[in-house]
Amino acid sequence: MSDDIVLVIGANGQLGSVLIKELQNIHGISKVIASDVYLDSNFEGVFELLDATDIDSVHSIVKKHSITQIYHLAAILSAKGEQQPLKTWDLNMKMTLNVFEVARISTVNKVFFPSSIAVYGNKAPLQKSPQSAFLNPATVYGISKAAGENWAQYYFTNYDLDIRSIRYPGVIGYQSMPGGGTTDYAVDIYHSAVKKQTYNCFLNADTKLPMIFMEDAIRATIELMQVPKAKIKTRTSYNLGSMSFSPSELYEAIKKEHPGFEIEYQPDFRQGIADKWPKSIDDNEARNDWDWKPKFNLKSMTSVMLEKLEEKYNTTKLKE
Ligand code: SER
Repeated sequence: MSDDIVLVIGANGQLGSVLIKELQNIHGISKVIASDVYLDSNFEGVFELLDATDIDSVHSIVKKHSITQIYHLAAILSAKGEQQPLKTWDLNMKMTLNVFEVARISTVNKVFFPSSIAVYGNKAPLQKSPQSAFLNPATVYGISKAAGENWAQYYFTNYDLDIRSIRYPGVIGYQSMPGGGTTDYAVDIYHSAVKKQTYNCFLNADTKLPMIFMEDAIRATIELMQVPKAKIKTRTSYNLGSMSFSPSELYEAIKKEHPGFEIEYQPDFRQGIADKWPKSIDDNEARNDWDWKPKFNLKSMTSVMLEKLEEKYNTTKLKE
């Protein structure tokens, strides 16, 4: 066990709620402080209510627990962000800069900041998008992540603050639900299949996007945070590749195990967001610098997703 005391901001979210358990295993339950704007009734561990837009609150929790590492996972995502652009910018940037600034002036020596494939726009090659392509994000979420990446590099260059970052593809897991993203369909569809409902997809059948299974996303995060500082050459954010597929390819993979499953396509405004995002990602830097390698593909992910969700819904039915 390490001597680190870890603060997770956005602990109730899709990634946070799963990452917390992994961090509790690594550091010990008492050394992981979960925080969010409300307490989830199922949460087990140390919890602090925290509105990260208030820098004094962030600072006082860091001081209270002598925090040494922060995982800052709270943000408004791509689709929801477009409904309230100015609020999204304000909130995402305020939280990110509060975390970086508190880390700079406190006991914190390492920060994890998640970025996203949303930093890309139509000026980058959208097949195998390179790490250092020109970024012209089209959503407020993407703009805030691209700005956050540059601020991460600024704090590293000027203050030697060890901020580490990954540009996540769409994250797919059975443990938690995403909210407000453009890649959310790829989680929702599994729930519909297991509940034997027709899935109404908000993207076109052939919209390919980069995706990653939760287990791989969590492992990548932990591996990046554990690698010696000198190995980290990218101080904006690392591209992270895993798999790429379209709704129709995902549907076919599910249909192999659920032959009666049906899908309908009703693209909405999220189609316009997805069209400007990479279809696949070049992650050579992550592979070379810290040995990143995904384990899951569409087939192996689908079989775990269906098995775990079937277990979950059957248990719920038994309890009713
Ligand atoms: N999954 C996110 C979204 O769809 C992208 O990072 O907004």
